[in-house]
Amino acid sequence: MYIMETVVSGIRSTGNLHLGNYFGAIKNFLKMQKENNCFFFIADYHALTTHPKPDDLHGNIKQVLAEYLACGIDPEIATVFIQSDVPEVSELYLLLNMNAYVGELERTASFKEKIRKQPDNINAGLLTYPVLMAADIIIHRANKVPVGKDQEQHLEMTRKFARRFNTMYGVNYFPEPDAYNFGKKLIKIPGLDGTGKMGKSEGNGIFLSDTPSEIRKKVMRAVTDSGPTEPDQPMSEPLQNLFTIMNVVSDHSVVQHFREKYATCEIRYGDLKKQLAEDIVKVTEPIRERINEIYSDNKYLSEVVATGAEKARASASKTVREVREIIGYKKFA
Ligand code: TRP
Repeated sequence: MYIMETVVSGIRSTGNLHLGNYFGAIKNFLKMQKENNCFFFIADYHALTTHPKPDDLHGNIKQVLAEYLACGIDPEIATVFIQSDVPEVSELYLLLNMNAYVGELERTASFKEKIRKQPDNINAGLLTYPVLMAADIIIHRANKVPVGKDQEQHLEMTRKFARRFNTMYGVNYFPEPDAYNFGKKLIKIPGLDGTGKMGKSEGNGIFLSDTPSEIRKKVMRAVTDSGPTEPDQPMSEPLQNLFTIMNVVSDHSVVQHFREKYATCEIRYGDLKKQLAEDIVKVTEPIRERINEIYSDNKYLSEVVATGAEKARASASKTVREVREIIGYKKFA
């Protein structure tokens, strides 16, 4: 008998989804949803580490939810839910925290980066972020976790926490989940500022909710260089980045055309950018229209989250019940 594997992944509700989220994570979700038992959620507990205002919290969650669904995640097949609708995860988080060591948490790359980036708000939630993430994953006893390269270390820690629990209690209860990507290599979408990856807050991104005119403006302003002066000259990083984006949004023949123009020094960056902008719009425009439709359909959204919460809680509460037993909690009989 073929047993479906369990897949878990989440995105924090800290900003609109961009092309990097779409090509890095969500396209994997879409490919996986039919053949696996999938749980896709919005990590709104994790979002609290940056102290969102109460007036913004719900809208942020709703936006990412509408964007998930607009991309084609099908709540009839996958379990789509909001992290905070499944409070069982906070109990597993508490239990896992007892076997997570401060030293290893302090050495986590993402924690060290936060210390650099937000020195005024180094809360304990940031320190134990990988423990909550591990709880998200192993509470459904997942095998595969589709995430971008930046989450690799968190997945290693998840495996370590799962293994440690198994060893500590002499059980083989939690599987050790792997970071997963369909293509061989993880896709890293660069930003438009010439260097680094596309981010939610770096000001270098194209959002799925951007209008065509916003997209055209952003692409036309993208950093390039002063142009090739010799045939077959190696490309600068900003230009390579534009080609990397073009590779995922444009037809192969289009990419080929501009590569040849570059090689013969006949390229006009204005033409390249116009083409790139139109090809991005072709990808995002149908999604943007659906985002707007779905966002305003409160009845549909509330049904989706209610169904998702129910399914996720059934799976999560079973795990927590079994974990409590393994740890040694018993009824007074
Ligand atoms: N840490 C992930 C990110 O920043 C979000 C996340 C939270 C997650 N819990 C998860 C991803 C569980 C996969 C599985 O993108």
